[in-house]
Amino acid sequence: MSIIIDGKAYAAELRGQIKAGVEEIKGKHSITPGLAVILVGNDPASEVYVGNKGKMCREVGMEAFDFRMLADTTESQLIAKIKELGQDKKVNGILVQLPLPKHINESAVINAIDPLKDVDGLHAINAGKLATGQDGIVPCTPLGCLMLIKSVARDLSGKNALIIGRSNLVGKPMAQLLLRESCTVTISHSRTKNLPELCRNANIVVAATGKPEMIKGEWIRSGAIVIDVGINRIHLSDGSTKLVGDVAYAEALQNAKAITPVPGGVGPMTIACLLANTLKAACLQHNIENDLASGFLSISNVEQINN
Ligand code: GUN
Repeated sequence: MSIIIDGKAYAAELRGQIKAGVEEIKGKHSITPGLAVILVGNDPASEVYVGNKGKMCREVGMEAFDFRMLADTTESQLIAKIKELGQDKKVNGILVQLPLPKHINESAVINAIDPLKDVDGLHAINAGKLATGQDGIVPCTPLGCLMLIKSVARDLSGKNALIIGRSNLVGKPMAQLLLRESCTVTISHSRTKNLPELCRNANIVVAATGKPEMIKGEWIRSGAIVIDVGINRIHLSDGSTKLVGDVAYAEALQNAKAITPVPGGVGPMTIACLLANTLKAACLQHNIENDLASGFLSISNVEQINN
């Protein structure tokens, strides 16, 4: 029997721990962590994500500040807003929702964020810290994926991990995190020639391609852990729509030892990790002992598998 990794339940557990952490720093230090989210333009999917982030913040007792900017906002206007929020003591975390309109240089914008407030962990300083084994802020989605992997397998040392996708948001930081766990890491991408073969050799597969059900079940090694980062809306022949991942779930379930569903797998963990990073950022900015912020970054282990 395969384990279906319940990201929704784990994320709820994590949010409970974060809420307790927020209450503690409110009580002991009179600090209410605050997250500012900036959305440029009105992409409907981004609107939904941003709305959810605000709601979840409030649920754990944090403050949420939403900033909507027009689609024709210039790069310098956006950077000016980021700098202003960088000076604002009520704001401990700054997230600029991606993707940005094409006329704006994403790297310039991300690198304008104070690294201590970079709750996405995408600033060059945080990316560099992750790559060089220093403690920084780690991107939310890969962090959530790692927690889900560790919920079913404590020791990842020596495992073959295949990451499908090389984005700065998921693929590259995921590789660094799994390397830190002593996995043998392969990153594949759109130009990779022998993907089915690489998959068949992988004990851990993290799929982040944005291509619906691209990873076939027969490619999955027996006993593998499969983490599906994709969320794709597909149209069915009866006119309805459905959310699917990057992995052909029903097929992969036959071979995998553990697998995340879509929805209800990685998605809820991303927001929970964003909240965790915001609490961590607030602690860092106020020199508060960080065991709070780092201590809760683990979720209970259900079943450990040895493959
Ligand atoms: N767009 C999709 N996922 C993310 C994320 O994790 N962070 C940001 N900033 N934008 C996103």
